[in-house]
This record gives sequence, structure tokens and C-alpha cells, in this order.
Amino acid sequence: DWTPGNVIADQVAAIRAQIGDARVICALSGGVDSAVAAALVQQAVGDQLTCVHVDHGLLREGEVEQIERDFVASTGVNLIVRDEKERFLSALAGVSDPETKRKIIGREFIRVFEDAQRDIVAEAGAHGEEVRFLVQGTLYPDVVESGGGEGAANIKSHHNVGGLPDDLQFELVEPLRTLFKDEVRAVGRELGVPEEIVSRQPFPGPGLGIRIVGEVTAERLATLRRADAIARAELTKAGLDGEIWQCPVVLLADVRSVGVQGDGRTYGHPIVLRPVSSEDAMTADWTRLPYDVLSIISTRITNEVPEVNRVVLDVTSKPPGTIEWE
Ligand code: XMP
Repeated sequence: DWTPGNVIADQVAAIRAQIGDARVICALSGGVDSAVAAALVQQAVGDQLTCVHVDHGLLREGEVEQIERDFVASTGVNLIVRDEKERFLSALAGVSDPETKRKIIGREFIRVFEDAQRDIVAEAGAHGEEVRFLVQGTLYPDVVESGGGEGAANIKSHHNVGGLPDDLQFELVEPLRTLFKDEVRAVGRELGVPEEIVSRQPFPGPGLGIRIVGEVTAERLATLRRADAIARAELTKAGLDGEIWQCPVVLLADVRSVGVQGDGRTYGHPIVLRPVSSEDAMTADWTRLPYDVLSIISTRITNEVPEVNRVVLDVTSKPPGTIEWE
């Protein structure tokens, strides 16, 4: 019988058998998969697990708090947060090219995570303990995809917590390997992972860094974060989350247009709404959102975010457009 409870019982037993009394670490991105994987391992081996969250400053409004506060409160995991916002901002300074941004973010992420790993290994070693395992939130579709060899042409360099450092060898713990996304969500709910995390739509590893077309700066991140929070709140309020696979909100930082507000001329930036419907993100169609919802989102964003004077809707399917703009 497939029930979340049975999956948890099986996985807890398997994780205990694999890990024994060694220590284990996990990178928490803020997404569903790493959160549920960590919660399962926590259930199995408790304090032997240490989670690391690299705060790259590219998450959306409220997401860091959901990990640092709500996830920790509901699961009891040991969490180390590395505040690396400045590091990522300075690494991204002056960079507009999408692939270069992706590579920089991926590279910095791995460096920070390696530093954190070394600290944890050293600290455990001082207590005579061994850190041998690394948790990854690999899902069944990921397993199938990577088993298929070099598939589609590399359109964008995807950033996940993939690459293991050369000089630290870990054995992987992948408790979600047999599960599909909706099953992962069911398991997460059963484990008490906060609903805001469990029901989260896909969000790219490089975060808002690839949703600012142009250079990433602290001000632009703040602008995008506000617009994104409004769009997300209104889509949720309208009950549309189930219909939408995800809705990237994109700041065209290199584009300006003339507007009028109050009795003054404005020269602000456009925000793009990119709602898509999809089964697996390989192909997608633009979601026919109700006009009244679009209207509310547009009015609120232009009223509440001073840097934005125009809201536009992306009506391109994938292909030829990708879901993200970069
Ligand atoms: P595209 O833009 O290629 O996106 O149509 C397909 C799906 O992948 C997500 N995405 C990423 N996910 N790391 C991730 O974990 C990444 O670097 C990354 N880039 C894109 C995107 O949000 C969509 O769901």
C-alpha cells in the first residue's frame, strides 16, 4: 500500500541502516525536495544531521524566514545559516550575461558549501565523530533523466547542489529517489514540514539572480522581491496556485519606459509576469489567467513598487520560450 506513512517508515529504516551512528549533512535550499529529504533524515537519525543553508540573498520575500524559523521549529533540525549575501552581490557586480550569472552563482554556492562542510567535519572530528554522508533531494524523475545519458542539448547550465568537492568524499543519502513530486509533498505534509514549503512551486537554484534581466544589485533585488510577493499573494488569493506550474516574475532592469503617475512623468522599469502551465517543465503553455486577477496584480505592483511603471504579460509557450527568462 502506498501511503506517506509507509514511505516514511520504510525510509527511516533504510536511512538508519545506511548511516548507523555516523554524522550526515544536508544543504537546505528552501525548496520542497531538500526540505523533505532533510526532514526524513532528521526523523531517522535526529541530531546526527546538520543542515546548512547558504543565504545567497537571491530568495524571494519570506523564504529565508520559512527555512530559518518555520522549518527548524517544525522539524527540530540543526541548521547552520551562512549569510553570504555580500559575497554573491560582489561576485555578480557588473555581470549581465545570463550564463555568466548562472556560473558565478553555482561556483560561489559550491565554495561556500564546501567551507561549511569543512567546518562541520572539523568540529565533528574534534569530538571523535565521522561525517560520512551527504543528503540529496534527488527525485525519481531526476534519476531517470540522468540515467538517460546526455539528453537534450544544454540550453541553460542548471545549478543545484550537485558537484561534490574533490577532497571530501561523501556517500549520498537519497531518500526521495523513488518518489514523484506530489508524493514528496504528501510525505512532507505527513512529516509536518510547513505548508508554505511543501506546496512551493519550482524555483531555480540561482533564484532571483536570473530573474533580473541586467546586472543584479541590492536595489533591483528589493524591487523584484516586492513585485514578486504581490503577484504570488494575489495568485494564491485567487485560488490559482493549482492551475499554475509556476509564475516567474521578472524585472527588466535594463529597460525603461515613460509613464505618468500623479502629476509627474516617470521613467521606470517593466515587470514581466510569466505564468505557465506544465506537466514536467520540459514543455509549457502560458496560463490564461483571468483578466481581473491580472488587473489587480498590475495595479498593486505599479502603486506599491515605485521603480516599476509597467506590468506586462508573457504569452509565449515553451518552446520557443523557456520558462525562465535567463
Ligand atoms: P527553463 O527556463 O529551462 O526552466 O524552461 C525549466 C524549469 O527548471 C527551472 N530551473 C532551474 N531549476 N536550477 C534549478 O533547480 C536551475 O538552475 C534552474 N534553471 C531553471 C525553472 O524554474 C523551470 O521550472
